[in-house]
Amino acid sequence: MSALTELYQEIERCQDCELAKHRNRVVPGEGPEETNLLFIGEAPGWHEDQQGRPFVGPAGQFLDKLLASIGLKRDQVYIGNVIKCRPPGNRDPLPGEIQTCSKWLNRQIELIRPKMIVTLGRYSMARYFPNQSISKVHGKARKQDNVVYYAMYHPAAALHQASLRKVIEADMLKIPQILAQAEKLTDTEAEPQQLSLF
Ligand code: URA
Repeated sequence: MSALTELYQEIERCQDCELAKHRNRVVPGEGPEETNLLFIGEAPGWHEDQQGRPFVGPAGQFLDKLLASIGLKRDQVYIGNVIKCRPPGNRDPLPGEIQTCSKWLNRQIELIRPKMIVTLGRYSMARYFPNQSISKVHGKARKQDNVVYYAMYHPAAALHQASLRKVIEADMLKIPQILAQAEKLTDTEAEPQQLSLF
């Protein structure tokens, strides 16, 4: 059994916050352990809670199209969420839930060791672009410890606000070039720790 599969089993047993009482299925995340590109969404919605898989509802269908626009299929990238269980009524995750759940995403990232992490929406952006606003940082990348972090609006934003669709599509189209740069970063290179935007 792979380390990632073992981790999923642990996540599925998690009872560390109130969300465990309301969930139908845990949604640990999915994708290959060997990939350089990892996407982080917010939290499972109704469809994800039914299926135990991330981004399988309308936002996920748009994400699949966005991936196709850069020649990728979803099984070539890793897709996870900040929160592994659906908040009741699709409410926003609470700070305590994000804090409690962060250990799982941290362990996923440690196992996968992606070269580029794309944040989808405000909650995953906040992990790597603290105190920033998504309207300012979307479409920008920063590099830290040989990983490139890239912020995008959440795909669901385009479903609620049609004007964001083109913004999200344009931000997605920048990924291949940034990923190619990220893949050239080596572990041995001495990297400055400060924020640096491409
Ligand atoms: N929205 C998210 O942020 N994650 C999902 O898995 C589905 C919708």
